[in-house]
Amino acid sequence: MNRKDFLKSGTLFGAAALVLPTTNAFSNNLADNNIDKLVDANGNYIQQTLPYNENFLEPYMDAETLHLHYTFHHGGAVKGANKDLQMIRKALDDNNLETVDFWTKKLSYHFSSHILHSIFWTNLTNKSNLPTGNLLKRIEKSFGSFDKLKVFIAATSKNVDGNGWGILAYQPYSDSLVVLQCENHEKLTQWGAIPILVIDVWEHAYYLKYKNKRTDFVDALFNIINWDNVAQRLNDAEKLLK
Ligand SMILES: [Fe+2]
Repeated sequence: MNRKDFLKSGTLFGAAALVLPTTNAFSNNLADNNIDKLVDANGNYIQQTLPYNENFLEPYMDAETLHLHYTFHHGGAVKGANKDLQMIRKALDDNNLETVDFWTKKLSYHFSSHILHSIFWTNLTNKSNLPTGNLLKRIEKSFGSFDKLKVFIAATSKNVDGNGWGILAYQPYSDSLVVLQCENHEKLTQWGAIPILVIDVWEHAYYLKYKNKRTDFVDALFNIINWDNVAQRLNDAEKLLK
């Protein structure tokens, strides 16, 4: 997909997900990153296994939280997305569109959850590292410095109203990095933005260990962010425009 085709398509996900085969440009670019294969050959949603053991992120993220989070919250979103998709297909088959708007809304919620959680697991590691090279240059160009990005995305994540995410994304329309404050899984996005770092601030992500201290959880996460994965995601996103 070249830049023109990409910009014409508007969004990588959303409605296109109903018809795109698994070998689209995005999944090809992420061929070495199996966890990003979110659908099977029939377009049904699949959850990849975690890229590490459940205790891998201790002590910053405890094994029990990771188990419940991955299995029931992310897993539940995948199940929900498949049901929503089935209901939309049925509505189209039956030519009965009475409830199709409801299922479309649900699919946006569940599939967005599936996308963000899939990115989240790969964004984390037990070895701390720092942004370098192109990623660092992009960060400095868009935010001034790495420290400024850190305080920006931390404040954005900590202050989400209710459940949601802090997101660092590559925005192809402005050819820049942007920080988004996402409510639930799908609200307050910019069309076209491709998430490269996501911070889950739903209570299920931290409550067992951090209780009501979301700010402590967000600060702790900076010890386990895999900036190499963020750099790889930026690189893959930029390839879409070439
Ligand atoms: Fe979550």
